[in-house]
Amino acid sequence: MNNANDFSAYTVSIHYDRRLYRQDIAGSVAHAQMLAKQGIIGEEDAAAIVDGLAIVKQEIESGDFPWDASLEDLHMNIERRLHQLIGPAAGRLHTGRSRNDQIALDMRLYIREVIGEAVAGLRAVQRALLGLARRYQQVVMPGYTHLQRAQPVLFAHHMMAYFEMFQRDIGRLDDCRRRADVLPLGSGALAGVPYPTDREFLAWELGFSSISANSMDAVSDRDFVVEFMAAAALCMMHFSRMSEELILWASGEFGFIRLADEFTTGSSIMPQKRNPDFAELARGKTGRVYGDLMGLLTTLKGLPLTYNRDLQEDKEGFFDTVDTLQTTIAVFAAMLPGLELQTERVESLAGESGMLATDLADYLVGKGVPFREAHGIMRELCRHCDDEGIKLQDLPLDDYRRFSPLFDNGVYGITAMASAAARDNPGGTAPGRVAEALARAEQILEEAGDGA
Ligand code: ARG
Repeated sequence: MNNANDFSAYTVSIHYDRRLYRQDIAGSVAHAQMLAKQGIIGEEDAAAIVDGLAIVKQEIESGDFPWDASLEDLHMNIERRLHQLIGPAAGRLHTGRSRNDQIALDMRLYIREVIGEAVAGLRAVQRALLGLARRYQQVVMPGYTHLQRAQPVLFAHHMMAYFEMFQRDIGRLDDCRRRADVLPLGSGALAGVPYPTDREFLAWELGFSSISANSMDAVSDRDFVVEFMAAAALCMMHFSRMSEELILWASGEFGFIRLADEFTTGSSIMPQKRNPDFAELARGKTGRVYGDLMGLLTTLKGLPLTYNRDLQEDKEGFFDTVDTLQTTIAVFAAMLPGLELQTERVESLAGESGMLATDLADYLVGKGVPFREAHGIMRELCRHCDDEGIKLQDLPLDDYRRFSPLFDNGVYGITAMASAAARDNPGGTAPGRVAEALARAEQILEEAGDGA
């Protein structure tokens, strides 16, 4: 490879596809057993293959495996080593199989496992959100639209919004798992194989629910990889939005939260800094995960049937997405429980007059004023308070009455908590509704068990 005319490195994938060794070996073991059961190879050869593969696996796991880049990929490395270990019987393993259906199998097996881990991790994140919601269940904070303080909401309601997002992410991963749960092995290079194989047996052995219906599709389909990466991109988008809020909330300007020390870092020159680096990095890494998805979609868009070597390019971006998603999930599951809400600060902002303007309009509606008109009255009133530099709560009743004679002492009873409590319809932020949401979430987590 030092030779300027040696371009063999261009085709090599062993430095990344070796991650699939467990799946590749499991597929080969099942394949060898099936071949023997069908009388396609001898029982003794199959037994030698299975034993040899166990040694290969051990060597890989102990770091003793002699990886050889000149053999290009994982499949050839394992087959060559098997040959060194057990001799000519190794040559019978690839009967009725092609690397094309083999790699499709490896990717499907791998993605199934990855989804199991991601879902279990997202359950832990949901548990952390629920824990925060419970810890601060009665705290009212400002809810925002346009990043302007809008209406009081329970902090628990805000946390449960993220619970819902991750619930949908789990649903998408489950959908993807269902479509990945199809055995491609037995499709051969593209047309099927001229041996009496038993694909149902393979599916059963490898834990697949069904077998692929079209060999040409099975060797060239990477939809399931795209689906996973799309689901991962969405999930990262949710983490990124949450990160953005944590970053804002941890700032001096907001002062809503304090993040645990392990998840902040100091500045090398400014001693007072507590930078929310983990949240910033999650937000930053999200962009790379989007890029991985775009990369694969672009790789696939021009491919004729069936297998094309371009398909080898599915892996690096995919593994990057897997690693980024799994580590981000783990970071958030660990970081969220240590979040400290500055309850006095958020409650005092939630009770500021501007936050209650909608409630005062609703108060006038209660006295018979049409909502549009009430809205207009409150607009004028808020402008007046702004001009005078006075808060709504401190405005004398006489001044209120200059805007509408219907105002009475009841205006001073409108508080942030009363405002939240009034939003007592399904999905609203009233404490009773939020308590219901928490109970429902607990039930979801209980039914999910460990999540996988
Ligand atoms: N390394 C290849 C991949 O990842 C495996 C299949 C190779 N097949 C072939 N006909 N060269 O897609």
